[in-house]
Amino acid sequence: MTKEDALAEVAKRIAACEQCKYVPNQNPVPGEGNPDAQIMFVGEAPGAKENETGRPFVGAAGKFLSEMLNSIGLEREDIFIANAIKYQPPGNRDPLPEEIALQLPFLIKQIAIIKPKLICFLGRHALHALLPEEVRPISILHGQLITEKGQAFLPLYHPAAALYNGGMRQTLLDDFAKIPAYMDQIDITGTE
Ligand code: URA
Repeated sequence: MTKEDALAEVAKRIAACEQCKYVPNQNPVPGEGNPDAQIMFVGEAPGAKENETGRPFVGAAGKFLSEMLNSIGLEREDIFIANAIKYQPPGNRDPLPEEIALQLPFLIKQIAIIKPKLICFLGRHALHALLPEEVRPISILHGQLITEKGQAFLPLYHPAAALYNGGMRQTLLDDFAKIPAYMDQIDITGTE
């Protein structure tokens, strides 16, 4: 099975998960991008625009994410973007721990298929979903490479938080600017 087929299979299982939906017939937002991506971005949960379109990060935060990717010479087509939660929670509230527990296996499977060199967390919810034992806050961890169990991770602030906070916008751009050097570092040192 190709990576593309394997990802399509996961998307099919997400669409079939009735227990994951907050309202009947809700649109799934499984994630999208390059199946061979070396960098994967993980957000929190779809918002209204993502719920409408079935695509991740297509609203205002997504536009800023695309800008930041462009600032380091990347296009959306180069990376894979997914969320910890595949359906929009009601009223855009934070996902509950049991909802993350239910839906996390989809993200873990997507990571296992893509095998990215680097996983960038967009916000603390993504960080805590995949690294639940990490107790340091994102205000400390942002922009710093973490290696856990042979996988490199980079916690970043959520782009939505930067939309209303000019200082955070620059911090995010500065953290993004570190990604190319981190990729070189991972190539040289590996993650074991
Ligand atoms: N915020 C997220 O965390 N994910 C999206 O897909 C859109 C906004």
